[in-house]
Amino acid sequence: MDCDIKSRDLAAEGKQRIDWADRFMPVLRLIRERFEKDRPLEGIRAAACLHVTTETANLMRALKAGGAEVVLCASNPLSTQDDVAASLVVHDEIPVFAINGEDTETYYQHIDAAINSGPMITMDDGADLVSRLHGEDMNPAFVENVFAGTEETTTGVIRLKSMANEGVLKYPIIAVNDAKTKHFFDNRYGTGQSTLDGIIRATNVLIAGSTVVVAGYGWCGRGFANRARGLGANVIVTEVDALNALEAVMDGFRVLPMPKAVTEADVVVTITGDIHVLRREHFEAMKDGALICNSGHFNVEINIEDLEELSIEKNVVRNYVEEYTLKDGRKLHLLGEGRLINLASAEGHPASVMDMSFANQALSLEYITQNHQSLENNVYDVPASIDDEVARLKLAALGVDIDALTEEQEKYLNSWEMGT
Ligand code: NAI
Repeated sequence: MDCDIKSRDLAAEGKQRIDWADRFMPVLRLIRERFEKDRPLEGIRAAACLHVTTETANLMRALKAGGAEVVLCASNPLSTQDDVAASLVVHDEIPVFAINGEDTETYYQHIDAAINSGPMITMDDGADLVSRLHGEDMNPAFVENVFAGTEETTTGVIRLKSMANEGVLKYPIIAVNDAKTKHFFDNRYGTGQSTLDGIIRATNVLIAGSTVVVAGYGWCGRGFANRARGLGANVIVTEVDALNALEAVMDGFRVLPMPKAVTEADVVVTITGDIHVLRREHFEAMKDGALICNSGHFNVEINIEDLEELSIEKNVVRNYVEEYTLKDGRKLHLLGEGRLINLASAEGHPASVMDMSFANQALSLEYITQNHQSLENNVYDVPASIDDEVARLKLAALGVDIDALTEEQEKYLNSWEMGT
């Protein structure tokens, strides 16, 4: 089997961790068991460009159980868990092209390897696979073979919608990110917790009593701000959107423009999906010793070139921590090379929350296999029936019962006649 991974010797360790994650993914497990019986993906070749984590491994296993042939490459050069890649290759016979720390050239070679498998469905996290597939240098036969795809994250959905608006998207995409059972939970609770986990694992700093600035109060930013407050941080939010800024104010956070916020910050985290949110003027105003990191999808949120230009020296002082010494002697610490810190220095989201995201992925694959002929070259929401099913199954797995509407209530909620 063609693959490119760090070492097959890591497979046993990877399997143990994949099985551990599986315990916290009851919804995906139920889907896998049904897929084993029904084989809804029989004959489908799928190429997945996702973070190579234990949770992704369980998704790959579910798709394979459903009859799909899957190939996996990384959606970020730093997020690959090499033991997981090894286990997928050795124990599940799933081709993986991903090595932690791979350079940009290798990263794209690995995406090309996934494309060369001739997928009929693509699964993306950030839209690098789709944009590569649509590139001018690519053999057009590959994109013509694809009948549909899915996208996992906010940044990818934004890129794909802009491709659709320009009329260049060549097949339909289901925006898994936009399912309520995805972004309400994964982006908020998953990114919130795992970003803190990443910062703590990289630095072992005490969050309590520190001033933490978060750029962006979207789904991820809300989750992060609330969890940082829970650990005792003084949290400051920066925003460009009036509504989200207002929500942050009413949620009890201080909201400041970035130039002011950075003067107080012990830690600054960007989670916006935007470019150069932290740049020269902000580095110039930061406190000595400040930690800087990013949890947004691409490593463009922090202008590292500006930081390099302002510095006279750069040293790796700890795993995932680069210390920049500025001309005036202040030291700033960049974590995880500005790449998503929750996947660089930690393990990404907890399995329990990825359970819902990847249940949406698996059910969306089944949906597009059955319905792609009726879809245009556009970006679609996950069908509400899938979202509802994932919520229902997750509640059942958590052992939580809820009430049902009585007949009278159902009638009342669908009527307009009854007032006071
Ligand atoms: P969102 O659209 O809900 O929120 C983004 C927020 O950032 C918005 O409120 C927007 O107004 C704000 N913003 C944009 N430019 C800004 C600027 N210059 N300064 C301050 N605020 C600014 O998006 P969501 O879902 O929170 O995702 C954010 C990023 O995180 C995306 O790149 C997404 O792909 C990524 N992501 C990362 C994950 C991880 O594991 N680290 C998981 C899920 C999403």
